[in-house]
Amino acid sequence: MFVDHASGAELWDVDGNRLIDYVLGQGPNILGHAAPAVVKAVSEQVARGVAYAAQHEWEAEVAERICAMVPGAELVRFNTVGSEAVHGALRLARGLTGRPKIVKFEGNYHGWLDPVLYSVHPDLALAGQASQPNAVPGSAASLTPHSAADLIVLPYNDLGLVRDCFERFSGQIAAVICEPLLCNTGAIMPVPGFLEGLRELCTAQGALLVFDEIITGFRLAAGGAQEFFGVTPDLATFGKAIAGGMPVSAIAGREEVMAAIADGRVAHAGTFNSQPVAMAAAAAVLSILDERREAVYPAMHQAGQALMAGIRAAGERHGVPVLVSGPGSVFQVYLTEKSDVRDYRDFAACDRPRMARLHELLLERGVNTVPRGLWFLSTAHSPAQVDETLGAVDAAFAAL
Ligand SMILES: Cc1ncc(COP(=O)(O)O)c(C=O)c1O
Repeated sequence: MFVDHASGAELWDVDGNRLIDYVLGQGPNILGHAAPAVVKAVSEQVARGVAYAAQHEWEAEVAERICAMVPGAELVRFNTVGSEAVHGALRLARGLTGRPKIVKFEGNYHGWLDPVLYSVHPDLALAGQASQPNAVPGSAASLTPHSAADLIVLPYNDLGLVRDCFERFSGQIAAVICEPLLCNTGAIMPVPGFLEGLRELCTAQGALLVFDEIITGFRLAAGGAQEFFGVTPDLATFGKAIAGGMPVSAIAGREEVMAAIADGRVAHAGTFNSQPVAMAAAAAVLSILDERREAVYPAMHQAGQALMAGIRAAGERHGVPVLVSGPGSVFQVYLTEKSDVRDYRDFAACDRPRMARLHELLLERGVNTVPRGLWFLSTAHSPAQVDETLGAVDAAFAAL
C-alpha cells in the first residue's frame, strides 16, 4: 500500500481510498496519526535544532516520566529503534553477569539484530523441536553459526522447560527475554504463573529477566505489561508507542543494573540517541498517557473489546470458526476451531491463508489491519468508527 496521508484513526492511500486504520504504523500511533500534541511538539522543536549530541531538558523530562510510570524503571537510556534497545539490554545482561547464554521463546520477535534473529515464525516442516534456533527466513545465509551458539529457544508459556533449562545450563544463563504479552504471534496472554515463575527462576539463578515491552509499553497500561500483569522485570525495552510515531526507544530498569552503562562498564552509544525532536514528541505523548490514564486506557480497551465481541458475533453469524483474544488495546483474530492459542505451534495450526484472505477482504472494505490478524487501537478511534468497522467485518465474513 502506498499512503498519501493519515490523520487520527484514518489513512488515505494514493488512490484516494479512506481506511480506518488498526495498524497505526505497527503500533506507535497510540494517539492516532498526526495527533495535534505531537505535531505541535515536533514543529516547535524542529525550529530549535534537531540534533545536539548533548543533554537537554526533554531527555530528563522523559526519563523522569518513565520512572514515574513504569514500576521497574529506576534509570533510563534512550535509543532510536527497538532493535537497538534490545541489543543494549542483552549486552547489559551479559556484561553484568559475565555469562554468555540468552533464553528466548519461539514466536517472540526482538528485532532484526543477529543474536535474536531466530525462531520467530519458523516453517514447521523444517523447524524440528521448538528448542532449536531457526534463522528467520531470508537471514540464514547472512548469520554465522556463532550468532546462535549462545541462544536457547524454548516454547512460550511452558515454565517447566525453563526450569529444566536453568538446571542444564546452570551458571551460564545471563538473561531470559520475552514479550510479556506475545504480540508478534497472535496476542497470546501469558498463562497464570508463567511471568511470575520466570521472575522467581531468574532471581534464584542470578539471571536477569528482560521484558521486551516494545509493543506492550504504554499500550496495555501507563506502566506497560509489568503494571498490567503485576510482575516487575530487571530490565525492559520500550519503543513504538513511547513517542507517538517518532523514532525513540528506551531501556529502563533497576538502578544497580543500569548503572553499568552510566559508569562505563557496558558500552552504549548512538548518534541519534535522545534526538530532541523525537524526545519532544515522547514528552508530549507520555504526559497525555500519564495524566489522563484513568480515561485513555479504559477507553482503548473498551473500544477493542467492542470490536472483539462484534467480530466473534460476525463469525457465528456466517459460520466461520473464529477465536479473538487479547486485552483490547491490542488483540488478535485467529481463524481456528481451537478455544485457546498458547504458543507459536498453536498459532501455526490456525488457518493462516484464510486469515490473510480476511485481511484482504477487510482492506477492500476500508479497514486496515496487520495482515497476520493483529489489531491496534488508539485514543483516536471513535464509537462511530468502531460501528463502521463492524459493518465492514460483517461484509468481509459474508464474503469469506
Ligand atoms: C516486541 C518487539 N521487539 C523489538 C522490535 C524491534 O523494534 P524496531 O523495529 O523498532 O527495531 C519489535 C518490532 O516490531 C517488536 O515488536
